[in-house]
Amino acid sequence: MSRVLATTPVVGPKALPEGLDPERLPRHIAVIMDGNGRWAKSRSLPRVMGHREGVEALKRMLRLCSDWGVGALTAYAFSTENWNRPGEEVSFLMTLFERVLARELEALDREQVRIRFLGDLSPLPPGLQQLIADATARTAANTGIHFNVCTNYGSRAELVRAARSLAERAARGELDPSAIDEALLSAELHTAGELDPDLLIRTSGEQRISNFLLWQLAYAELHITDVLWPDFDQEALVAALLDYQGRQRRFGGVTSLP
Ligand code: FPP
Repeated sequence: MSRVLATTPVVGPKALPEGLDPERLPRHIAVIMDGNGRWAKSRSLPRVMGHREGVEALKRMLRLCSDWGVGALTAYAFSTENWNRPGEEVSFLMTLFERVLARELEALDREQVRIRFLGDLSPLPPGLQQLIADATARTAANTGIHFNVCTNYGSRAELVRAARSLAERAARGELDPSAIDEALLSAELHTAGELDPDLLIRTSGEQRISNFLLWQLAYAELHITDVLWPDFDQEALVAALLDYQGRQRRFGGVTSLP
C-alpha cells in the first residue's frame, strides 16, 4: 500500500467499476483470508511466502474498499486456534505483523484509516503489543475506513468474555440482569461501536465460519470463492460485490411484494 498511498491521497469515494450500484455497497465487509499455504505450495514455495503475499492482497483490498466508500473492513488475521501451527510459522506471522504495521502505519494514518486490533492481545509479543497500542492511539480519531485486524481472535472466547463482564456488573449491583439485551451484549464485544458486517467473504472454497464473528454475522450475506487469498484482486472483489448486490436481504422477514 505504501507507494500507492503515498502518491494518491483519497479525496472521496472513487468511481466504482461498471455494474456496481454505489447505493447498495456493503457498509462493512468481513473477510476470512484463507489459502495462503496452498498458494505457496502450488508454487513450491514455503508456506510463509503465502502469508507474505497475503499481506499484499489485504493491502489491495483495503485500498479498494477505502476508494469505493466501504465503511469498515474486518479481517481474520490470526485465530485463537492458530497458535497450534508449527512454532516457526507462528513466529513468522508475529514478525510479519510487526513489520507490516511499522512499515505501513504512516501511510495508513495519512489516508485517514482507523485501525484497531480485535482479540485478546495479551499473549502477543510485547513489541507487537506496543506497536498495536501506538497505531490504535495514533489513528483513533481518523475519519476514513475502519480497518479491524482480528488477532488472537476467537468468537466464542469473545462471547464468554462479554457474558462474564455483564455477570460481574450484575453481581456488583450495577446492572439489573433483566436489562441485558442485544445492545448491551454487543457493547461488550471487541467490535463494540461497529455496524455488523453486511458481507462475509471467505476465500479458498472452504465453507466454514471458523469461530469468526459468530454474533456479528447473524444476518451477513456469505460469499465463498475458490480464489486463494493471495490471488484475491479487484476482479474477485467486484465478483463478491456483484454477488452481494444480487441478494435480497430479508433479516428474517419477508420481501416486500410489488
Ligand atoms: C490463512 O491461510 C491465513 C492467515 C493465517 C492470515 C495471515 C495474515 C495476513 C495475510 C494478514 C496480516 C495483516 C496485518 C495487517 C498485520 P492458511 O495458512 O490457512 O492457508 P491454507 O489453508 O492454504 O493452509
